[in-house]
Amino acid sequence: MEVIIVPDARAGGELIAEGIADLLWRKPDALLGVATGSTPLPIYEALIAKVRSGSVDASRARVAQLDEYVGLPAGHPESYRSTVLRQVVEPLGLSPDAFIGPDGSASDVQAACTAYDRELAAAGGVDLQILGIGTDGHIGFNEPCSSLASRTRIKTLTEQTRVDNARFFDNDIDQVPHHVITQGIGTILEARHLVLLATGEGKADAVAATVEGPVAALVPASALQLHPHATVVVDEAAASKL
Ligand code: GLP
Repeated sequence: MEVIIVPDARAGGELIAEGIADLLWRKPDALLGVATGSTPLPIYEALIAKVRSGSVDASRARVAQLDEYVGLPAGHPESYRSTVLRQVVEPLGLSPDAFIGPDGSASDVQAACTAYDRELAAAGGVDLQILGIGTDGHIGFNEPCSSLASRTRIKTLTEQTRVDNARFFDNDIDQVPHHVITQGIGTILEARHLVLLATGEGKADAVAATVEGPVAALVPASALQLHPHATVVVDEAAASKL
C-alpha cells in the first residue's frame, strides 16, 4: 500500500485526477469506479477541468458505480445514480450508456446485486476504483464486520452512517434509507488499482486503522492492505493519527 500525504483536499483531488489522466492516455476506454460523498468531489472537479481544457480526452471513458440506496424512487436527486450522473457522467460529456450501476429500485434486490457483479465482469472489470472512507472505516457501504470476501449484496446501514449521511437528506435522518446495495469487499478488491482519498480530521482514526491496524472485518478499508496496487491519499488532518 502506498500512502501519500498532501497538504489539502484540493491537492489530493489534483493528484488523483492526474493518475486518471495517465490511465485514460494508456487506456482510453478505461472503466472508472466512482464513489459518492463529499470527499471525491475535488477529484471530479480536477478531472472535469482537464477535460474541458482539452488536456485529457475522456470521450471513451466508462464509469461504474460503487453502491446505491435501496428504495429511493427512480430519479431521486440523492440516489447515487442521480448523483454520479450529475457530478461525473454529464460534466465529463459522457453518454448515460457509458455508465453502469446497481438497480436500487429492483423488486428482487439480490438478483440486481448478482446481475451487477456479472455486468462489472462483462465490462472487463474496474481499472481504477476511487474510494472514500466512512468515519467507521467503511468502504462503499461495507459496514464494519462485512466479510472481506463479500460480493455485491444488500446491507443495512449503521446508525452512525445514517447520521453521517443525513446532511444529504435535509438533515433528517428519517429520510435516509436503511438499506443499500454495495459492491462487496471482494468485488472492490478485483479492481486493478484502488485509490482511497480521505480528508479532514474526522477521518483520522479510520485512516490510522486502515493503514497501520491489522486487516480486520471491523475496519473494512483495511482490506486495501491485501491489494497489490492500493494508493491511499490523505490530507494532513486525516493523516494526523498516523
Ligand atoms: C458514503 C458512501 C461512501 C463514502 C462515505 C464517506 O457512505 N457510500 O462511498 O466513502 O459516504 O462520505 P464522505 O466522503 O462524504 O465523508
